[in-house]
Amino acid sequence: MPILPGSDPAAVREAAAHIAVGELVAFPTETVYGLGARADWDHAVARIYELKKRPADHPLIVHVLDEAAIAPFSAELPPAARNLVRRLWPGPVTLILRRNAGIADAAAARQSTIGLRCPAHPVARALLAQAVSLGVPGIAAPSANRFGRISPTTAADVRDELGESLTVLDGGACAVGIESAIVDCSGARLRLLRPGTIDRARLESAAGEALADADGDAPRAPGTVESHYAPRARVRLLTSDELRHAWAQNAIPRTVAVYARTFAPAEPAPAQWRQMPSDPDLAARELFAVLRNLDRAGAEEIWVERPPEDARWEGVADRLRRAAR
Ligand code: TXA
Ligand code: MG
Repeated sequence: MPILPGSDPAAVREAAAHIAVGELVAFPTETVYGLGARADWDHAVARIYELKKRPADHPLIVHVLDEAAIAPFSAELPPAARNLVRRLWPGPVTLILRRNAGIADAAAARQSTIGLRCPAHPVARALLAQAVSLGVPGIAAPSANRFGRISPTTAADVRDELGESLTVLDGGACAVGIESAIVDCSGARLRLLRPGTIDRARLESAAGEALADADGDAPRAPGTVESHYAPRARVRLLTSDELRHAWAQNAIPRTVAVYARTFAPAEPAPAQWRQMPSDPDLAARELFAVLRNLDRAGAEEIWVERPPEDARWEGVADRLRRAAR
């Protein structure tokens, strides 16, 4: 029952009404599904931390409808951040900005900065527009999974993660498939805290500034300091030579699923063998769904061919490295 069709305006109105009174709603974005609560009510945001079992010192991303909706959360938009907003929003890029005092304390985990993102998915935009009309300035939403697990990319995945009593707006399978790139715009230099599908070169040309890597002083991004995005099965990263060799030696147990890009065995391929797309955007789109499905199919280990060392693969490579820890 609580999975509502996101294409139905009445369902979107119902979901926005839940958000407006401080309840939780899961909703689709172009990257992954989010678990949303109104960002300006700390007691509503506290419910997100409870349901996800997320530590309270890990800040959430606040979703806003447009550039004008930044102002209640952050009074200063540095020139490079404004460039990113004007060139890449709505889209899969989150900006870390200095936070105004007295708003979204819980969503920001009481840090002096706030993560803001303007999603492109039409259902997310409809939900935000409706929520704004009910007086909601923004929707705090982390990915709609339990802490430390893979982000969901379908409404059914959200239900599997968080249970049947949660209201979920269904917007189909997410087109981007991995979480947004996070750019810290709160310091003297821009820093890439989490790679996404918009690669460094595009971020730098949109910002008009170079991107530094995250260092020890960067604001905390939990995805960057610990094992994350993990299925139940153990994930191992192998080169295509290692896969070819293991195949030739008959050394791939039946309990192992393989997800390979450049090496495929001669027929007949084993049941648990999946081909990874050679285009990084397509690989990102299906990555979490493939890991989930192989996990569900009962694989004890998932052997994944290492993605190429290419800037366009940075987002996929990052998620695979974390899954493999
Ligand atoms: O694509 C996405 O970004 C998805 C969809 C739902 O929008 N959201 C998402 O949220 O991935 P979450 O909570 O799973 O990841 C948010 C990341 C975390 O690593 C968090 O630490 C970081 O953003 N973050 C949020 N606010 C921050 C801040 N003020 N400073 C540093 N990192 C921040
Ligand atoms: Mg997450």
